[in-house]
Amino acid sequence: MSYIRSKAFDETGYVVLDSYDQAADPAEWRDLEYVDWKSSGDTRFAPLASAFGEMECNGFWNHTPPRTDKDGVWVQANVEKAPILKARAEEPGANIGRCRVIELQPNTYSEALYNLHQDDNNRLNPDGTGWIVRGFFNLSDDPESFLILREDRFDPDTEVRIALAAGTQVIVDTQRFWHAVWQKGPEPRYCLITSWESGPELDAYIDAKHGDPHYATVPLDPGFVDHAQAEVRRRLAERAAILAAKGKAGFGGSRDPEA
Ligand SMILES: [Fe+2]
Repeated sequence: MSYIRSKAFDETGYVVLDSYDQAADPAEWRDLEYVDWKSSGDTRFAPLASAFGEMECNGFWNHTPPRTDKDGVWVQANVEKAPILKARAEEPGANIGRCRVIELQPNTYSEALYNLHQDDNNRLNPDGTGWIVRGFFNLSDDPESFLILREDRFDPDTEVRIALAAGTQVIVDTQRFWHAVWQKGPEPRYCLITSWESGPELDAYIDAKHGDPHYATVPLDPGFVDHAQAEVRRRLAERAAILAAKGKAGFGGSRDPEA
């Protein structure tokens, strides 16, 4: 047995869909209730679907009974304020797990590289069922900011930078890619993130939206990239030393921040 995966991801592991006319919709995300998550303070989430419909963001595997990232339950207080966002998450007709709006405060390129992580979306996902991938629909207009994808965490040559204008729609195998967002600001970034189960419904949706597995990455000065990469290595080494001093193993910075 193996997981059901979308052919659209075979080549690169991501697809960029047709852009959405975000400006035509009300800014529903401004009315939602956001909850702090973990200790970072940089990131908050407004849950639209959670494990049991509660106003919380925990991974479904951290609940009792633990389960995989499927069969999310709508959070009434938030979906009442965001019927269009709910409809967009439902449009593919694929099973939905976690669905939320993320609020990300401005950061730097090196901070984004430090935050690179792989998601843990398929924990407890039964073999033979659909692989969980994630949709990122940018709501705020951040054309100078990037969704950063890397096949190899420490190899900038594998990096794809997708600009985040309002209405940008990307679906990513986030368990395959190291990913993070560089939000230049000065305002926070808002994005609808939905876990979908791969299968014929999602395939048809990707086809209908002309999912493109290639994106002409936005260039960055190589010296700037090298400098940021060195900074990340320094921070990771520093963190590893602190953990070693406490007698804990760990490399730091790589854990799924949403797990
Ligand atoms: Fe992630």
